[in-house]
Amino acid sequence: MKLFLDTADLDQIREAVRWGIIDGVTTNPALVAKTGRESGELYAEICATVPGPVSLECVAMDVDGIVVEARRLAAIAKNAVIKVPVMREGLIAVRRLSEEGIKTNVTLVCSTMQAMLAAKQGATYVSPFVGRLDLMGQDGMESIRQMKTIFDNYGFATQILVASARHPRHVLEAALAGAHVCTIPMDVLELLYQHPMTDVGIQQFLAAWAKVPQKAGASRAA
Ligand code: E4P
Repeated sequence: MKLFLDTADLDQIREAVRWGIIDGVTTNPALVAKTGRESGELYAEICATVPGPVSLECVAMDVDGIVVEARRLAAIAKNAVIKVPVMREGLIAVRRLSEEGIKTNVTLVCSTMQAMLAAKQGATYVSPFVGRLDLMGQDGMESIRQMKTIFDNYGFATQILVASARHPRHVLEAALAGAHVCTIPMDVLELLYQHPMTDVGIQQFLAAWAKVPQKAGASRAA
């Protein structure tokens, strides 16, 4: 499963790219607002930093407006993917954009049927918001499993991009459900590799190694 970083913070993006773990980035208007930066310049820098797809979100609400905005965002970089909210006007625009060869990410998906419609319109990705669904008392991951079954049943090429992930268990369940991508904030990425028993084990081994006799003048590293 691919992992995307869900942020518009360039320092976080540079750090995660340095690790080599992330395959792409997703941004949204709220994440961009947090940076306090002008979006065009910021988007260009993010796209130049990430060796993979970067989702940039449209804020226009009518079909023609979305198409014009999407073309402008897509022209920023070859790896730009255009996020369009799942609403009637958005779905119509996605059909037009996919016919033009512009990659789309249908976002704010909160039901399996919304995802199916997006796939029928030729979306490159659909982004179900599992964390927000869980907050409403729904089972976000159940809708991921349903989407996977439907997309497999009918051979949709649209990729399921699990979004609004809140903790490592969301990432685990996304992978078990066969989602193509999970996008996560930096704090969840950090939690993926941490485990207290790993830290205890490292300390035990270092303490034991300190007792192993070393040749005079040799470094303690093996
Ligand atoms: C995905 O592309 C969105 O940016 C994202 O995951 C938003 O989720 P949240 O606002 O619920 O954290």
